[in-house]
Amino acid sequence: MKFFIDTANLEEIKKGLELGLVDGVTTNPSLIAKEKKPFLELIKEILKLVPGPVSIEVTAVDAENMVKEAKKYAKLGDNAVIKIPTTNEGLKAIKKLSSEGIKTNATLIFSPSQALLVAKAGATYASPFIGRLDDISQRGMDLIEQVLTIYDNYSFDTEVIVASVRNPMHVVEAALLGAHIATIPFSTIKQLINHPLTDIGLERFLKDWENYNKEVAKKK
Ligand code: E4P
Repeated sequence: MKFFIDTANLEEIKKGLELGLVDGVTTNPSLIAKEKKPFLELIKEILKLVPGPVSIEVTAVDAENMVKEAKKYAKLGDNAVIKIPTTNEGLKAIKKLSSEGIKTNATLIFSPSQALLVAKAGATYASPFIGRLDDISQRGMDLIEQVLTIYDNYSFDTEVIVASVRNPMHVVEAALLGAHIATIPFSTIKQLINHPLTDIGLERFLKDWENYNKEVAKKK
């Protein structure tokens, strides 16, 4: 399972890379806005920093301008992936871009039918948003299960990015379902690592080791 980090924050990306837990990055206009830096400069830095795919979202809403914007971003690096919203216009843009070999990430997917359509259009990645479904009392993980079944039934190459991840259980459940990728906020990556019993266990091991060494030193 690949881990993407869901952020445009350079420090978080660097820390995730140091942990060896960043196979790629996903950004969106809201994440970019939080950084308060010039968009293209920031994106170029992220593309340089990360060896894996970096998703950059278009803000145009019609297919022609989505394609124009996508082509501009695709030139910024070999690892650039263009994030396109799953709308009628987005579908047309995905079809056009994939026919020209430009990698796409179909975003804002909330239903299995949307996921089917973006795979048919040739999207490289499909991003179902599970946290936002959970927020409205609909099990987001059910959507992941359905999308994976559909893609498997027809051997689509489109990879599923489990998006809008909010907690460690989202990651674990996505892994149990065999999702290709989860895009995870840095705060959740940290939660995945920590366990109080690990800390207590380590403290006890180190204390016992210290006492043992004192005993051995006394006998010398
Ligand atoms: C995915 O690519 C999106 O950037 C992200 O996962 C959205 O998450 P949110 O619903 O927590 O904003």
